[in-house]
Amino acid sequence: MPAAKGDAVETLKVGIVGAGGIAEQHGVAWRANAPRGEIVAVADVAEARARSFAGRYTGPGAELHGGIESLLADPNVDAVDICLPHHLHAPAIVAAARAGKAILCEKPLCTSLEDAAAINAAVQETGVTFMMAHNQLFQPSLIEARRLLAAGAIGRPFLYRSVEAFQNRAALAPVAPAGMAEGESPWAWRSDPKRMGGGEVLDTGWHATYRLLALAGDDRPVAVQAMTERYFLPDWPAEDTGLLLVRFASGAIGEILTTWAFATVGAQQFEAMGEHGSLAGSGARILHQLHRWPQPAERVDDPVHSFTAEVTHFLDVVQRGATSLAPVATGTRVLQLTLAAYLAAAEGRQVELPENPLEAGA
Ligand SMILES: NC(=O)c1ccc[n+]([C@@H]2O[C@H](COP(=O)([O-])OP(=O)(O)OC[C@H]3O[C@@H](n4cnc5c(N)ncnc54)[C@H](O)[C@@H]3O)[C@@H](O)[C@H]2O)c1
Repeated sequence: MPAAKGDAVETLKVGIVGAGGIAEQHGVAWRANAPRGEIVAVADVAEARARSFAGRYTGPGAELHGGIESLLADPNVDAVDICLPHHLHAPAIVAAARAGKAILCEKPLCTSLEDAAAINAAVQETGVTFMMAHNQLFQPSLIEARRLLAAGAIGRPFLYRSVEAFQNRAALAPVAPAGMAEGESPWAWRSDPKRMGGGEVLDTGWHATYRLLALAGDDRPVAVQAMTERYFLPDWPAEDTGLLLVRFASGAIGEILTTWAFATVGAQQFEAMGEHGSLAGSGARILHQLHRWPQPAERVDDPVHSFTAEVTHFLDVVQRGATSLAPVATGTRVLQLTLAAYLAAAEGRQVELPENPLEAGA
């Protein structure tokens, strides 16, 4: 709601770290949340990218940095929004926490449970606000599904399904975007296992995984089975497709389908099936079908820009003490499950998940 004339508006001053592809969506999101948030600094090793980003999403006074260190040293920066390649998330989060900045970080949390432990310790010790950029949590259909599930609208849930599927043709013929360092591109670091930390399941599959966990609510994942394959990207060093089966403590089963090889027909992003009926949804549209109903009830909300809604929630957490929908524990659980799925796929067996998300599946 815009502030009434004369109202003081608190403004969170934000530094963007990594001004690449996804930072564009964050730039749009911060601008849409003005004046509650304002980008006052941008850091990127590619100076041209920082400059170009600032030209579109900041006022004229924004500071440009060649790396995160000098940005963190700026007392004018209250919070950082980390949009870096995967291997840089952990050091950036730990350094930002030590500098006392509130943190919004793109997925994945990081690439190893050792790094997750360092992040958990730094966030706990410093008490800074930390939130994963789990933008799809803010899709109206998922918000409504979680409300219906919590209200018992389908009775006891038996099965959840979460899908994130598209054909990634851009990865077949990568083009380096303007201003990137020589030999660099979003596909250069994604093709390097050390920087990427996994394959499609860790990258795009992250969305499908946190969505599945969000549907299951307080129900804890206790075991995972998985198959992975590379169907579409012959030169890719990792999988482009994963199918995961997750057992929850209640006995419910979860299924995650995630791929860069194909799209699905009539794509639903999620389904939940239970004793009284089922739910299915995608974007702003949700269907609710009880067993005796002749046809499903349909609800269609206005579409949202999920990154804008995510930044609004981050501002609510930092400025108004709202409870974060994506705290560090959530990111840690998603990572534990993902790494356990890789182990399950490699060894062709079920992997059990310890209650402590910092402990590896075995
Ligand atoms: N939420 C989503 O839907 C979504 C979509 C795409 C990417 N992502 C995530 O966003 C992150 C970035 O992905 P991307 O596709 O934007 O990558 P990108 O390669 O387009 O952008 C990364 C940027 O970081 C910069 N950079 C690299 N090393 C740096 C350093 N040491 N210090 C400062 N800047 C540095 C690069 O120059 C580049 O501009 C990843 O974690 C990715 O998984 C999320």
